Amino acid sequence: MALWGGRFEGTVATSTQEFGASLPVDKYLYKQDIAASKAHAAMLAKQRIISLEDAEAITAGLSAIEADIEAGSFAFDINDEDIHMAVESELTRRIGEAGKRLHTGRSRNDQVATDTRLAAKALAKQLMEANLQLRHTLVDVANAHPKAVFPGMTHLQHAQPVLFSHHLLVYYWMFTRDFKRLLAAFQAADASPLGAAALAGTSYPLDRVASAYAMGFTQVIPNSLDAVSDRDFLLDLHYACSTMALHLSRLSEEIVLWSTTEFGFITLSDEFSTGSSIMPQKKNPDFAELIRGKTGRVYGNLLQLFVTCKGLPLAYNKDLQEDKEGALDSARTLLQSLEVMAGMIKTMTVNTDAMRVACNKGHLAATDVADYLVKHGMAFREAHAIVGGLVLECEHRGCQLDELPFEVFQEASPLFGKDIANALDIKAVVSARFTEGGTAPAAVREQMKLVCSSLVADEAALMGLSPVIEMGNLS
Ligand code: ARG
Repeated sequence: MALWGGRFEGTVATSTQEFGASLPVDKYLYKQDIAASKAHAAMLAKQRIISLEDAEAITAGLSAIEADIEAGSFAFDINDEDIHMAVESELTRRIGEAGKRLHTGRSRNDQVATDTRLAAKALAKQLMEANLQLRHTLVDVANAHPKAVFPGMTHLQHAQPVLFSHHLLVYYWMFTRDFKRLLAAFQAADASPLGAAALAGTSYPLDRVASAYAMGFTQVIPNSLDAVSDRDFLLDLHYACSTMALHLSRLSEEIVLWSTTEFGFITLSDEFSTGSSIMPQKKNPDFAELIRGKTGRVYGNLLQLFVTCKGLPLAYNKDLQEDKEGALDSARTLLQSLEVMAGMIKTMTVNTDAMRVACNKGHLAATDVADYLVKHGMAFREAHAIVGGLVLECEHRGCQLDELPFEVFQEASPLFGKDIANALDIKAVVSARFTEGGTAPAAVREQMKLVCSSLVADEAALMGLSPVIEMGNLS
């Protein structure tokens, strides 16, 4: 019989029971559910709402149930509808009367909001850890190739040469911003709804702060209606995941591009490549493509929750049950993607020679030739036009700027001296961009100092998080 059996004369149909159940999804929140029940029971005893003996029996019973779930010997039954009912009914089967007292001053509405917030905190923390791992890897690879130069692009056309490390650090900064978004999502989830009961609060003298602290929350939600109906904190997590997925997909796309025969800038390790069932020569960047592809479902999950919550009247509505699956899916997807990306980057071979050779195409020094004329007194617009003409001449001759005879330069402008050769040197072109945030080796070394201090700050932020109930292991 359902926990609400008293008011009913019949039972729900099997098909509607299955349709209405969230157990297949929220059983993954068993640790959060059990921790929240323990906190609630301890608080009820402290407030003398239940006896100490009952609270002790409840705590011991819950611990035993948790151990059984972890051992794989707990038989989840869809007739229990959700993890809250599965745990509570099993507890009552095991310890009798005391188990029936656990739900005093509590509703599944504040219970589910509590479990979900606890899970959001745990997932955000895991994601922050994985995010930091990937950022460390990016920094290591950037530091391992301080001199590698390759063609920076705009419109996917050769533009100006840049340090490979400078390029990689762009992703470092993207993921650094994602870390901040995750931290914001963690903080948004970090408030306890428990004690809101069904919607209006309860007539028992609960100590909401006590149960909040026991679960690791730093505060309680001040409005009971808001406590049971708000899912913004999950939207924040979805947004952080979506932006991180976006960044991962951009990096994936570059990995796919760089590993083509045409580019050849990197070679992925065998561990992070696949072959073809028919073409023996193939080595495919499947995992980069898959990370890129998974972005779609992460965005989909964000949108799904937006649409689910749109127009919902206060307070709890069963629609809200649709909140957990997408959030768990996005977090898991991102955790895997971050780990795979870190492994792929760590083990790839960086082909610095191929990068260097690619710099010999596309007139990468053209801007610097124009700058040369400007530094010799010409207005930039005029210089731009003259160098444009030189590039056109190169196109006609089928050569690069540095292969044009000196006379051609002189014909274009008498301001050109023999030292124009220096302006055409790729290394010099890179070193010339010394402005803060520029690609010159000295500027990138300065940037690296900021990278290091942001890593230290974020490690500290991670250590300063309020306590979490880690996600359980369910196979
Ligand atoms: N399984 C529900 C969910 O995930 C728990 C809360 C149900 N509350 C209710 N009154 N039906 O949202």
